[in-house]
Amino acid sequence: MKPTMRPYGRHLLICNRGDCAEPEVAEALHKRVAELNKEHARNKLRNPERIKCSLVDCLGVCAGGPIVTVYPDGVWYSNVDEAALERIYAEHVLGGKPVRNLIFHGLYPEGEEPGYAPDLRDDEPFEVEPVSATEAKAALRESGELPQTENAFERSREQAEEMRRAVRKARKKKGLVIVNTGNGKGKTTAALGIMTRAWGRDMRVGVLQFLKNENARFGEIKAAERMGKIDWIATGDGWTWTSQDEDETVARAKYGWQLAQDRILNGGPNGLYDLLILDEFTYTMHFGWLDPSEVVAWLTANKPPMLHLIITGRNAPAELINYADLVTEMREIKHPFTDQGVRAQPGIEY
Ligand code: FES
Repeated sequence: MKPTMRPYGRHLLICNRGDCAEPEVAEALHKRVAELNKEHARNKLRNPERIKCSLVDCLGVCAGGPIVTVYPDGVWYSNVDEAALERIYAEHVLGGKPVRNLIFHGLYPEGEEPGYAPDLRDDEPFEVEPVSATEAKAALRESGELPQTENAFERSREQAEEMRRAVRKARKKKGLVIVNTGNGKGKTTAALGIMTRAWGRDMRVGVLQFLKNENARFGEIKAAERMGKIDWIATGDGWTWTSQDEDETVARAKYGWQLAQDRILNGGPNGLYDLLILDEFTYTMHFGWLDPSEVVAWLTANKPPMLHLIITGRNAPAELINYADLVTEMREIKHPFTDQGVRAQPGIEY
């Protein structure tokens, strides 16, 4: 079944996501539009000049709020306080003339905005009796769109504040502990994908490689060198199954953990990290070189709250999985070497 909708003249969208302006400010503007609509009879369903107004999620601007848009005109206003809203309502919404000095973006060139919807549709004029602001408020109270009394208004503010606290909590940011484990390929590659994303946002990033040979010139290391400002540290002495000296491997893994602890606490050449990858770190715990409970206890006590830490490698220990915020298991379904004997190729596997 197709829904139906009564005609309307203009539609205002107000962002109340909370990053461009406080959500309660957006809500206050929304209420003010409801009052003005009542005053000017633009709330009547039968009025083809009806004004719709919606609180919406992020409009993709995220600064200079409150952000208000007016459609079908495609006009975007920033920093809209109550006085600005009243001007926009009077001059633009009712009067058809956008308030130029408050506009920061227009979907159409100035003066070429689409015509007013009721005029375009040739709607019959609608006889209305405007009401005073006091009457408008009283009517809104009666219909439940505004709280009944000032006390109720206070109470509803408290409830709204509680809701906002809950929303802010749900939206809280923290440095994540991410574990990429499993027997399939792509654990380090996925971590480096996040690193590229972080680097693109000017975050300080570091990669500490536990087992790969520090003299190896993998494609990603070459890329990091060219990108610049990526702190790439290798600690291992080659793959463990080719190692000639187990004791040295163990010693270097432990040394790598000391290095990791130091970098977590003190950062690298560019300052404290926003993102640090401990590549192939799970092996140090899986092979018993480090105690996973001790590693997790140290991270719990010392990891800066906003540092994102990515740990890769097969056989992630249960303690680490419990501690992490995001754990992904790579599972092999098909492999070109096992299925077809195709060897690892530069630029694809390394
Ligand atoms: S948070 Fe308001 S536009 Fe993005």
